[in-house]
Amino acid sequence: MMIKLLLTGANGQLGHEIIARCPSTCSIVALPHEVLDISDSKSCDDAVRVCKPDWVINAAAYTNVEKAEDEPEIAMRINRDGPLNLARAVQRAGARLLHISSDFVFDGLQHRPYLPEDATNPLSVYGKSKLVGEKAVLSVLGNDALIMRTSWLYSAAGKNFLNTTLGLLRDQPFLQIVSDQTGSPTSAVSLTKAVFSAIAADARGIFHWSDDGTATWYDFACEIQKQALALQLVNEKKEIRPVSSSELKCKAVRPPWSVLDKASFIAATGLMPQAWQTMLEKTLIERKAA
Ligand SMILES: NC(=O)c1ccc[n+]([C@@H]2O[C@H](COP(=O)([O-])OP(=O)(O)OC[C@H]3O[C@@H](n4cnc5c(N)ncnc54)[C@H](OP(=O)(O)O)[C@@H]3O)[C@@H](O)[C@H]2O)c1
Repeated sequence: MMIKLLLTGANGQLGHEIIARCPSTCSIVALPHEVLDISDSKSCDDAVRVCKPDWVINAAAYTNVEKAEDEPEIAMRINRDGPLNLARAVQRAGARLLHISSDFVFDGLQHRPYLPEDATNPLSVYGKSKLVGEKAVLSVLGNDALIMRTSWLYSAAGKNFLNTTLGLLRDQPFLQIVSDQTGSPTSAVSLTKAVFSAIAADARGIFHWSDDGTATWYDFACEIQKQALALQLVNEKKEIRPVSSSELKCKAVRPPWSVLDKASFIAATGLMPQAWQTMLEKTLIERKAA
């Protein structure tokens, strides 16, 4: 039987991939921000009532980590009230909600990969807003909620670390990249596969998904340069200088070590993650072909 999906945040990097890679077993109604504002409870109710989905995938979020420090009310309205509105709407309709969350719910002070049940302690407004969003979903849907936390998301298009780094490699004489934050870069393509695997498995609970392996932002930038040179996406090798977070004077405090443990997700779905370097190469090849 065809699974009916309603996607929010359709113009974001994850939203784009979900639309592009929707399997033939699913039909999808994909609503961008201008059509469905998830912070508007009536709009959420109306959209779910009209579309009658089996699942709502919430790929909409306020994602500007730095700006969130200056406008916490807006970040909270979108990242807390949005998932709450969607949870209430799916509960009324008897549908399911797959909500995407973030490694930034953790403080990053632990030195083993974070399990879904590990204690949360967000350091930034963005991280706090994502955590209260999770709590809002759980408060309404309880054991029926499906929350997937991910980390360091990028795709071939869109505003993300990959595309910013490629731009800097073309335009700047040298790059300064943070070397004291460690995580797992995650391609929106592999997150999309994980989303569809979770739906197919009818998963419930909080899960973690990222590409395999760990890196600092500095490592990630060096690998981007290496692969981009090999694919002739950039022509000239630039110096990449490692810097500390404090040198960059960012407003938002990021977790220094936010690697996610994916074992429970792998057990629930059978999907195996690929090395982040492999997914980066696939993304760069796709970017070159576009
Ligand atoms: N990016 C990362 O590194 C990262 C890491 C971990 C987790 N995540 C999570 O992964 C999910 C997908 O992130 P992404 O990188 O695909 O984000 P993205 O590219 O910034 O896309 C988010 C989308 O949400 C839309 N949006 C914002 N406010 C909205 C509202 N009130 N109602 C409806 N849509 C709204 C945005 O539209 P406008 O642009 O028009 O505002 C945008 O199209 C999010 O839950 C994010 O928190 C991301």
